[in-house]
Amino acid sequence: MFEPFSRLGDKRIDDETFLQTLGALLDPSEGSVALRYCGLANAAALLWWYLPDLNWAGFYLRDDDGDIPILRLGPFQGLPACTSIPFGKGVCGTAASTGLPQVVADVHAFAGHISCDSASRSELVVPIFLGGDPRPGGAIGDPSQAVVGVIDLDSPLAGRFEVDDASFVERVANVLGEKLFPYQSAS
Ligand code: SME
Repeated sequence: MFEPFSRLGDKRIDDETFLQTLGALLDPSEGSVALRYCGLANAAALLWWYLPDLNWAGFYLRDDDGDIPILRLGPFQGLPACTSIPFGKGVCGTAASTGLPQVVADVHAFAGHISCDSASRSELVVPIFLGGDPRPGGAIGDPSQAVVGVIDLDSPLAGRFEVDDASFVERVANVLGEKLFPYQSAS
């Protein structure tokens, strides 16, 4: 299954090939939580393999069981991490509550940053939207309503992430939202 790839950290493909590979790797979840986790686990591994200079790569997923939406730890690569982040808290919760990517050049300068690995110096968090579309049906409204989770990338290097990285990871989020969080599986 993984013939095109060799070893972790061996970046021999480009962004387009990465996105095609990711799409081909994902079975549409069609509402199955187990399949969703399968896809996200492989997506975390693929991101970890492809992107250099990371110390954490993974997902936080929306949980609406409480009074306010909470992000819960999903599949990831890296050290064990905090399990629950309320919308609006930390870098992840800010991306979720605003529906906007967060490019943080220096995590120590981000008020409210939640430290899971003391090695982290910079961070990129990108929201994943239901159906992969930030504005379902073209409706203008609160984008956080459509956020189903976030992609979180941490680096031990300050200023590791640029606007181009955010654009690429948004395309990754679109693929994941479309395949693993289709509109009909909204809960
Ligand atoms: N730094 C994140 C918390 C998650 S860890 O980086 C894995 C935040 O501030 O939301």
